[in-house]
Amino acid sequence: MKLTLKIWRQKNTNDKGAFKTYDIDGVSPDMSFLEMIDVLNEQLIEKDEDPVHFDHDCREGICGMCSMYINGEPHGPLKGVTTCQLHMRSFSDGETITIEPWRAKAFPVVKDLAVDRSAFDRVIQAGGYVSVNTGGTPDANEIPIPKSVADEAFDAATCIGCGACVAACKNASAMLFVSAKISQLSMLPQGQVEKSERAEKMVAQMDAEGFGACTNTGACSAECPKGIDLKNIARMNREYLGSKMGSSN
Ligand code: SF4
Ligand code: FES
Repeated sequence: MKLTLKIWRQKNTNDKGAFKTYDIDGVSPDMSFLEMIDVLNEQLIEKDEDPVHFDHDCREGICGMCSMYINGEPHGPLKGVTTCQLHMRSFSDGETITIEPWRAKAFPVVKDLAVDRSAFDRVIQAGGYVSVNTGGTPDANEIPIPKSVADEAFDAATCIGCGACVAACKNASAMLFVSAKISQLSMLPQGQVEKSERAEKMVAQMDAEGFGACTNTGACSAECPKGIDLKNIARMNREYLGSKMGSSN
């Protein structure tokens, strides 16, 4: 395949940045999107040019690092996958592909396509854990949890913290991410002890990081590679309000 790539190049956080166009040939439809950028980078290095910086780690849809906007969509045109799971067969020979970093005040660009997502880490540090003493490892099935509840908590726990929800939202809201992290804990008995306090602390940190408010457009869930459900946001709002009103909810 022959492609034209319009890639956002930005030297550092303070640089203005601009698109740069690259032509690339000999791309296999079976290459992943990141492998295609690897090929481009090898060519740039051979020409003594600065390679395109981008984040990646697992390259199998787990770590949430490969954040980039492809043709106007977070993680590209295929639903339910991360950029590393996207393959070049999803594009046409001769196509022009536009590649940009996540754009949100809380995710400053570090260089090119790499952004600083440590705001998410700080939201987790504010309360995304269980600190009560749960004792030693309990015997299996000692705390019965209905299967439907366990499944829903597990679904929330599949959030990989990629930030596509923030990038997709016109308000750069992080409510889908934060609500998934709150839900995965508050639905299970071990996480319920601290649930009100947790919601308050994590929401306060989310606001302090500069993420926007939710106006219920649902773009976050539509673009989430893990299909995190909007009902997690409703649960987070209930827990937050319950805490503010002094009820145990
Ligand atoms: S909710 Fe979805 S889009 Fe947002 S960080 Fe988690 S996995 Fe990524
Ligand atoms: S590199 Fe880990 S999810 Fe893409």
